[in-house]
Amino acid sequence: MIGIIGAMAIEVEEILAKLEHPQTETISGMDFVRGAIQGVECVVARCNVGKVNAAICAQTMILRYAPSRIINSGVAGGIGADVKIGDLVLADGAIQHDVDTTQIGDQIGMVSGINLVVIPTSSEMNRVLAEAARRCAYQGNVHIGRIASGDQFISSAEKLHWIASTFGAVACEMESGSIAQVCYINGTEYTAVRCISDNADSNAGVDYEQFSTFAAHQTTELLCTALPML
Ligand code: ADE
Repeated sequence: MIGIIGAMAIEVEEILAKLEHPQTETISGMDFVRGAIQGVECVVARCNVGKVNAAICAQTMILRYAPSRIINSGVAGGIGADVKIGDLVLADGAIQHDVDTTQIGDQIGMVSGINLVVIPTSSEMNRVLAEAARRCAYQGNVHIGRIASGDQFISSAEKLHWIASTFGAVACEMESGSIAQVCYINGTEYTAVRCISDNADSNAGVDYEQFSTFAAHQTTELLCTALPML
């Protein structure tokens, strides 16, 4: 079984529409929909925005459905001139940019308990997703790089440069780092696939309004191509 988590309706609704024989269970106010896509058993959930929502969703999904792999799918802000709206980013390591216990001697971004700044993701899942992008002639570049999450919509050049220089991240969003932590703790194979909806700069709000639905659609399409290959 493959678990798919998206934060917002636009990030999961096309996947939900493709599920054959859907069965829904509501747990802690979140809908978990089980079914099959092209013969692949899946459970799909919308977690809502932010790291805590995403962690609740991932832990619940693991305990209730025991998926062998989880994919976090959706949109992200691109970091760096190279990472453009419509490009795809596969998470080669997940970061939580808003974790800061440097005042008590820790490295910036270090997640307590697992004591990591960069939480590993599945290079095998990234390989398959990149191959799926080639097969479906994905319109846009595919980047495999670090994704940084935090409970903030990033819309300033200063903040995005700080995230880039501190963590080497190529995209930012608000969930994948916490899902990575949950999957790491539980030994569940995991990656995140995100399509760029904005450049996390002062224009991010406007770009997001214009491009997020398109970007979410791009990710969904790719995911549906990749599922039978996983
Ligand atoms: N998701 C999409 N764009 C984002 C941004 N600029 N900051 C945080 N999350 C996002």
